[in-house]
Amino acid sequence: MASIKITLSMLLFLTIFTYSQAKLRHHKETEMTLYYKDYAGGPNATSIPIPGPSTGPLNFTMFGAMFVVDDPAVEDIEDASAPIIARGRGVYIISALDGSHAQLLMSVVFINGKYKGSTLEIQGSYAQFEPVAEAAVVGGTGKFRLARGYATYEILSYDPVSGYSVTRSNITVLHY
Ligand SMILES: *[C@@H]1O[C@H](CO)[C@@H](O)[C@H](O)[C@H]1NC(C)=O
Ligand SMILES: *[C@@H]1O[C@H](CO)[C@@H](O)[C@H](O)[C@H]1NC(C)=O
Ligand SMILES: *[C@@H]1O[C@H](CO)[C@@H](O)[C@H](O)[C@H]1NC(C)=O
Repeated sequence: MASIKITLSMLLFLTIFTYSQAKLRHHKETEMTLYYKDYAGGPNATSIPIPGPSTGPLNFTMFGAMFVVDDPAVEDIEDASAPIIARGRGVYIISALDGSHAQLLMSVVFINGKYKGSTLEIQGSYAQFEPVAEAAVVGGTGKFRLARGYATYEILSYDPVSGYSVTRSNITVLHY
């Protein structure tokens, strides 16, 4: 009986100890800037409309239009040979009746550099025609487990003929 009691209280102690260790770990803050290269059309499109019930061609101001995106992202847009360090993969659904906002559900999938193998999960109502849009970082995996933060988006250039655009995204994230 006595030995069982000791074992139980030790277990309890261990549980409390592990739990408070986890609580005491401090957050790190990481900031980064990524430049997404989006090709909305052409033979190597990185963003395509998902056929839906809407009539007529889908476009970025049509309520209910859905797009799936797999944009390469670099850390330096001036350097044409900068490696692709992440891909912005997810869906973009025009969720405002007037076409002003899109629901953004995006994973930033790091494929190179020090965050390779980790992801950030981004979600929000994206004010697509504002000079600066913002969405929440709601989580992450790998080095970004338990992440939270925010990401800003600014369209730096857009070529309506080729459909090519560059979007700058500054990400601030708290994680362990
Ligand atoms: C599309 O990708 C292919 C294969 O990577 C490449 O050979 C071609 O030049 C690209 N075309 C354009 C217009 O970028
Ligand atoms: C996009 O769709 C909206 C809503 O149907 C329409 O009013 C607008 O003219 C379309 N724009 C283009 C460029 O096709
Ligand atoms: C994003 O970061 C760049 C480079 O540091 C900076 O020039 C720009 O003002 C930032 N944008 C926002 C919306 O904070």
